[in-house]
Amino acid sequence: MNSTTTPAPAAPAARPLVVGPDQPLSPYPIFVSGTVVPGFGRGSKQLGIPTANLPEDAVNQALTDIAIGVYYGWAQVDSGPVLPMVMSLGWNPYFKNTKRSGEVHIIHEFAEDFYGKTLRIAIAGFIRQEQNYDSLDALIDDINIDKKVAQKSLERSGYVKIKSSRFFYR
Ligand SMILES: Cc1cc2nc3c(=O)[nH]c(=O)nc-3n(C[C@H](O)[C@H](O)[C@H](O)COP(=O)(O)O)c2cc1C
Repeated sequence: MNSTTTPAPAAPAARPLVVGPDQPLSPYPIFVSGTVVPGFGRGSKQLGIPTANLPEDAVNQALTDIAIGVYYGWAQVDSGPVLPMVMSLGWNPYFKNTKRSGEVHIIHEFAEDFYGKTLRIAIAGFIRQEQNYDSLDALIDDINIDKKVAQKSLERSGYVKIKSSRFFYR
């Protein structure tokens, strides 16, 4: 054994791909709807992960009782399909925001922006705390894992059921 060798930095711990209980428990699902408003505009450009912002009153009224963090659930734009989503609720420490924001990334390729359209979301569970990062790449890597976690966690029957809720437009 060579005792002078510096050990390689530990790899980041692998994150579990399924989070939360088998069935959604109170207070989930939390239903919120609002008109999509322009955000800070960094979503698509810097991250390659477009996000739709909920209006401030929806964030302030409907989401005051839940912790800051990253959530998974379902989303619908106008009368479109109900699709999996990840949502960041918080201050985006990496970008040093001064306002609490609710930003939804729908896991789907959309041809165009949907400012002014109605966004309906059902928040089904909590993924993780918001974090600060040393680099934009580290933030992007974590959001890509969040997307996998959302997709896997939503495959469970209790979570699939939320999609057919009367809250969504049919
Ligand atoms: C699923 C998800 C997780 C996020 N997690 C964090 C985080 O841990 N820390 C952070 O500073 N920002 C986080 N963000 C926020 C991004 O910084 C944000 O999407 C970016 O600022 C783009 O927003 P904009 O389009 O309003 O400019 C997250 C965003 C999403 C969609």
